[in-house]
Amino acid sequence: MEFNLKDMAKIVKGLEGIDTDADFLKREKETLIVRGFETGDAETGALTTPIFQSAVFSHPRYAEATGYSYTRAGNPTRLALENTIAALEHGKKAWALSSGMAAISSVLKLMNPGDHMIVSEDLYGGTYRLFSDLYAKYGILVSYVDTSDSKVLKNSVRPNTKQIFIETPSNPMMRVTDIRKAAEIAHTAGAILVVDNTFLTPYFQNPLDLGADIVVHSGTKYLGGHNDVLCGFVVIRDEKWIEHFFMNTMSEGAVLGAFDSYLLSRSLKTLAVRMERHQENARKVCDFLKTHEKVAQVYYVGDKDHPSYRLSRKQSSGFGAMISFRVKNAKAIPKILSNLKLIYFAESLGGVETLMTFPVEQTHGAIPEEIRQKLGVDETLLRLSVGIEHADDIIADIDQALTRSALRVQRHKESESNDNQVTIK
Ligand SMILES: Cc1ncc(COP(=O)(O)O)c(C=O)c1O
Repeated sequence: MEFNLKDMAKIVKGLEGIDTDADFLKREKETLIVRGFETGDAETGALTTPIFQSAVFSHPRYAEATGYSYTRAGNPTRLALENTIAALEHGKKAWALSSGMAAISSVLKLMNPGDHMIVSEDLYGGTYRLFSDLYAKYGILVSYVDTSDSKVLKNSVRPNTKQIFIETPSNPMMRVTDIRKAAEIAHTAGAILVVDNTFLTPYFQNPLDLGADIVVHSGTKYLGGHNDVLCGFVVIRDEKWIEHFFMNTMSEGAVLGAFDSYLLSRSLKTLAVRMERHQENARKVCDFLKTHEKVAQVYYVGDKDHPSYRLSRKQSSGFGAMISFRVKNAKAIPKILSNLKLIYFAESLGGVETLMTFPVEQTHGAIPEEIRQKLGVDETLLRLSVGIEHADDIIADIDQALTRSALRVQRHKESESNDNQVTIK
């Protein structure tokens, strides 16, 4: 199906007469997200796409079809969601899969044995595990490099490079890769650019508009937004990949179920308001962390002191709500995590609840020690997915956790030195 933004606007009553692209994009993000593309049910007038909880679809008679036969190949509830995601990402077509990892795996299957790919060295540990442990035996060669440095990226290209895969902002060090430049480098080399757009979502960043070929998502994160559904998406810019991704989902069946598709469609309606609130809170949390005496460094792309702040402004319409920060004393980390009252110590991101993660032991545990050390993913680093609770409550919880842990470390030190004194006596 062909997606044309201006045509889509005509579908939704009240969006007529949009002249400029900027005007359109702004209104698209706030109105089309709510109205979706193909939501509802024309026959009954239902506003919500029905949950077609059926694995099988019958045919009216021989040589006639409704368009559906078996849910692994297609399901109306899932298709409504896929069309909305394709529209939001400005792509030709999207597939909804059972997890972000299933989406990333489907993109990897575009590669042949002996093909080379360049991957952001700072990326989600599960993606590293998939590339290095699971796919290595199929002869796919992977170079992990700092893709935020365009020169390094360019110099990493080999004659057999077929794919550049980036996360931007990266996870957890919040490095930003210039998507336009990465696309140029990929295309000059005859390769494709794949962008994991999980952190910013199409609400803040549209990589396909910047030259990327394929976008992947962990829909489990902001798109789902409520920490209750595991889900992934792949979105393509060119219809030449339709066959590959259709065959992938049809043959393997790692598709999103009807009920989960419904939940995702429901969540997408509030994406704009959630992302705005996430971001507003993140700015406040970032400002607070930067002034805290126990904090050594803060990494947030929306911070004016972030080295890629200007690039972020250029290629994205917002900064999201992922923050990493470094504490001065690594010994305080177990106490900080145990002292949290409001914030969950948990391994995910993008939901309405604020989560704190210890990347070195959780999300990035699968990455070899020497790579982690090189990146700075060490025992002093914590990652925050800032939720939509009241910002003051999030800040108060971080403050009390940092302060109490520091007191305990201090007390521990004092009792150690008292013990020593006793021994000496
Ligand atoms: C940036 C990023 N991409 C992909 C994934 C994998 O997604 P899922 O957990 O939905 O399989 C994650 C999971 O944390 C992630 O953070």
